[in-house]
Amino acid sequence: MIMWFLRRWFWNFFGWLKMSLNKPLVIPLPAGDGTPITPVPLREAVPQLPIDTILVCDPAQIPRDEFNKAQMLVYKLQIWLYSAFSPMQAGLPPIDADPVRALNKAYTWLHRTRFAPPELPAEYLGSPDLGSLAVRGPYACYLQRLGDDRYEWDFSSLEGYELHDGLRPLGVKVSFELNRQRRMLQAVRIDCALGAVEVGQPGWEQAKKLALCAASTHLSLVRHFNGVHLIGGAHLAVATRNQLPPAHPLRRLLWPYVYATQQSNDIVTRGQMLPGGDFETTFSFTFDGMCKLFEDSYADYRLVVNDPECDAKIRGTWQAGFVTPSQDIQVALFEVMHAHARDYLQLYYAEPHAVRNDASIGAWLDQLNALIPNGVGVLCSDVDFDSLARLVARFMYLVTVQHELLGSCMWHYQLWTHRQPVRVYLNGQREPRDVYQRLVNANYNLNVSRRALMHDFSYLALDAPGAAAMQAFQRSLQELQVSMERSPRAVWTLYPGALKVNINA
Ligand SMILES: [Fe+2]
Repeated sequence: MIMWFLRRWFWNFFGWLKMSLNKPLVIPLPAGDGTPITPVPLREAVPQLPIDTILVCDPAQIPRDEFNKAQMLVYKLQIWLYSAFSPMQAGLPPIDADPVRALNKAYTWLHRTRFAPPELPAEYLGSPDLGSLAVRGPYACYLQRLGDDRYEWDFSSLEGYELHDGLRPLGVKVSFELNRQRRMLQAVRIDCALGAVEVGQPGWEQAKKLALCAASTHLSLVRHFNGVHLIGGAHLAVATRNQLPPAHPLRRLLWPYVYATQQSNDIVTRGQMLPGGDFETTFSFTFDGMCKLFEDSYADYRLVVNDPECDAKIRGTWQAGFVTPSQDIQVALFEVMHAHARDYLQLYYAEPHAVRNDASIGAWLDQLNALIPNGVGVLCSDVDFDSLARLVARFMYLVTVQHELLGSCMWHYQLWTHRQPVRVYLNGQREPRDVYQRLVNANYNLNVSRRALMHDFSYLALDAPGAAAMQAFQRSLQELQVSMERSPRAVWTLYPGALKVNINA
């Protein structure tokens, strides 16, 4: 236990130090372009990661004007320490049965000097209310209509990947029924490794834990890291840098949303995905299982998840006869971004066909369609003002709202493992102390201080009208913030003031 004490405090201090030293990015004007980035298979960029389908920036191609040497050295030290003095220690007892005591043990006074502890979502006060979680908070994105008044969460895509010993598999489906009088959903059945478990039957509570473990795992690995970091965010940054010259109006608009993405992605990919990294040591999958899941789910990506209204219509949750509070907030945030994209682009593309006549926009779309699995839904041959503005809004939403929902917002969910375990053990035990401590520290570091979306970026504009449009966007965000503050706050409420401008530390 002395070794565990030393390990725990060493890594707690390391996490706290990173939290303390991290400062919001200063985003300079786009510089003259160097060599274009040519994405390569992940296996070539990081030889320890046997994944070919995922394309990333080769570390040698990280743009010089986005390179932060001090940050790179700290991460190299961290990755070296993973093997030299691992935060994991086999054979530790499980965490305390009392969730508050378990949290207090892992989330120390030192952590709390930099960031407040998580709140318990109302849905977790008693036995988890899956019907409420289907429309409130991060898991609302998974709800889809089956027909009539039947809905589901489908995590069957998590089945079949190699697990650590002693864990239950995560292929889970949760069936919901709509109560039209009360305009709410109720979970009625869970198909999982325990069989088909109906509400009220023995095993229902355990099946709910398995469902929430699957939701949390899919959200962190597939939606957040694969979808936002490795696919949407990375490829948007590559195409924007490669195809839009520094003085192009769209480059200036998107610059704060993409600046420094390649280096940030490179270091967090190593910290989380390498053997001994956060993903393998906290979630259910072995290193091989995790790599295969990333490889497979990369091909299934759909950019439309970053357009809450279109996505809701596809999933059948748009005006479907029940309350959708999280979806409503996401639509309100998207609409502010969409209006801004239209106002700004109108300054430079007012003429009919102006968008299609811009060769840089065409090349940008071609590269996005080549890099992003299943494309971006807009081709250079059919792009017009409306489709360009909506696509730009989707990208702004991706790196701000979507990233916050899937990253920092999980702070209030993922640490309550008595409700949503990070691993479900066959023998019913709770997570070992090292697994839980690492989960806490990994989530802690998702909350490092980063450049806010609500910040004056008008210095990046090409001209006075462009600067005015950027400032008008800030006023719209502020107005939405004020109107949202008139309603009671819940842990899942996502305010404009909480959003960061990009996915990078
Ligand atoms: Fe992230």
